[in-house]
Amino acid sequence: MSDVEFENQRIVFKEKNYKKIKCYNPGTSSPTWHVKREKDSKDFVIKIIEKESCVFHRNKEIPREFKILQDLKKFGRKDIVKAFEWSYVKGRVLILFEHIQDFKTLLMPESMIKKVFKNIATAVAFLHENKYAHGDLKLDNVIVKEDRTIVLIDFQDSCRIDEDKEVYITGRILSKEDPMIPVKEGIDRVEEDQEVSVKTDIEKLYNILVEFKWNGAKSAEFLAFSDWFKDYHKKDEVSLKDVFLQAYVYL
Ligand SMILES: Nc1ncnc2c1ncn2[C@@H]1O[C@H](COP(=O)(O)OP(=O)(O)O)[C@@H](O)[C@H]1O
Ligand SMILES: [Mg+2]
Repeated sequence: MSDVEFENQRIVFKEKNYKKIKCYNPGTSSPTWHVKREKDSKDFVIKIIEKESCVFHRNKEIPREFKILQDLKKFGRKDIVKAFEWSYVKGRVLILFEHIQDFKTLLMPESMIKKVFKNIATAVAFLHENKYAHGDLKLDNVIVKEDRTIVLIDFQDSCRIDEDKEVYITGRILSKEDPMIPVKEGIDRVEEDQEVSVKTDIEKLYNILVEFKWNGAKSAEFLAFSDWFKDYHKKDEVSLKDVFLQAYVYL
């Protein structure tokens, strides 16, 4: 049996067969598949990343996304996606995740959006309290379940915010100017960038509000909160505590 049959109907990963159901993001550099394990029909998600574009933790021992999710597992949070295994397969990095059924965010009633936003902010606050920044907050990276609880996914840009520089040797360092642009290793801006990542998360939380507006959120309370956040997120000093306080006042 070959290792893997990416191009066909199934993926063979750690000697188990997974039947492809659907690609969530066709045409991207890290196709992510909803799959079913053949032996028991259990659902999973497999992310396939080109080795060259995968961000590794320390000396290429382990993909950083997997390492961070593995570290977070001990907290037993339901709002952080679980990653089970990873492996190199034919020059690519495969990561196996739990599958979460996404409720259509576009169909959410306004009352649900308010609750969902607070749940997202709660998950981000948990990360920050434990010295992690997500780095890529947007609705695409939040799975909303039918009961209004949420699960954060896509930790590819995440980092520990109190890590020593060593950790960044093989990883991507986020640039201060644009957190999405990788900066060359060996520069001495790591501490600044660590702080910026938390601030960036808060800025991106505001962007999520904007996304909700695009999706039709328009109640007076929601718009008032969004107006408050619009000014707030541009400040030099921002804190999730303020965001929570205002969220509970407005929403
Ligand atoms: N664990 C999961 N359960 C259900 N859907 C998922 C899961 N992980 C990813 N997805 C879907 O796949 C898409 C791409 O996955 P993501 O991890 O965000 O990769 P990318 O780095 O390409 O953005 C997500 O936007 C989401 O729709
Ligand atoms: Mg994503």
